[in-house]
Amino acid sequence: MSLLSVRDLRLSFGGLTVVNGVSFDLEPAEILAVIGPNGAGKTSAFNCVTGVYRPQRGSVTVDGRPITGLPPSRIAGLGLARTFQNLRLFPAMSAEDNVRAGLHRATRQALWDVLLHTPRYRRSERESLEQARHWLDVAGYEGDPGQPAGTLPYGEQRRVELARALAAGPRVLLLDEPAAGLNHAERSGLVRLIREVRSTGVAVLMIEHDMGLVLELADRVAVLDRGRKIADGPPDEIRTDQAVIDAYLGDADAAA
Ligand SMILES: Nc1ncnc2c1ncn2[C@@H]1O[C@H](COP(=O)(O)OP(=O)(O)OP(=O)(O)O)[C@@H](O)[C@H]1O
Ligand SMILES: [Mg+2]
Repeated sequence: MSLLSVRDLRLSFGGLTVVNGVSFDLEPAEILAVIGPNGAGKTSAFNCVTGVYRPQRGSVTVDGRPITGLPPSRIAGLGLARTFQNLRLFPAMSAEDNVRAGLHRATRQALWDVLLHTPRYRRSERESLEQARHWLDVAGYEGDPGQPAGTLPYGEQRRVELARALAAGPRVLLLDEPAAGLNHAERSGLVRLIREVRSTGVAVLMIEHDMGLVLELADRVAVLDRGRKIADGPPDEIRTDQAVIDAYLGDADAAA
């Protein structure tokens, strides 16, 4: 049984089928990259896995347990954490509070403690702040933790999102184009971080256009084209796969 198992996903918007019979598995400590031309259905497939969209067909299981149709918060609680292609931070909230929002709380705070600001409440507030700063650090955040997220430079906002996903203590980390807009040094930091995360047994599912990064990091690559998975294998095989080359050339032709 796989950690994450996706079977025969299908998602349509009106008459347009954007994910068409997609299946894949993910094991602990595995890095699977999902690649494909723009509009191939990569983000839509992610959205089906994380509960943002409900697929019309197919199943998603974590440790064999079906999660299809559960709300995103429940799916996150089962160990799937993600970042978004278009960042989704609370812009008015500080960087550290955004990360605190992602923290996996082992014990829910009793309303009583919260209302009366008991010592137990204050201790747990302090701990969550320390943890948030820890994850900001791990994600390579260099700004002021108290600054409103919406006022941060783009690269720092991405790190806050990453920190928030890490703070959830995921078993599967889903990253939607994590290298987009990063400079060379930031990209190296990202590679190091993803390797570190993987070394703790976390599985990484990563949508990425940067082929250098994909070839460098991924154990396996799944290729989507017009909603269908056209290839799935080790990076070296994918690089020379004719169907994959055709999909990208077709895309280039269309763009030309
Ligand atoms: N909410 C929606 N309503 C209607 N169509 C949608 C919606 N979301 C996505 N689509 C369409 O689904 C198709 C796949 O989009 P998706 O965002 O999944 O592609 P992608 O592979 O992530 O592309 P990119 O590399 O550009 O991020 C596109 O044709 C897109 O216009
Ligand atoms: Mg996308």
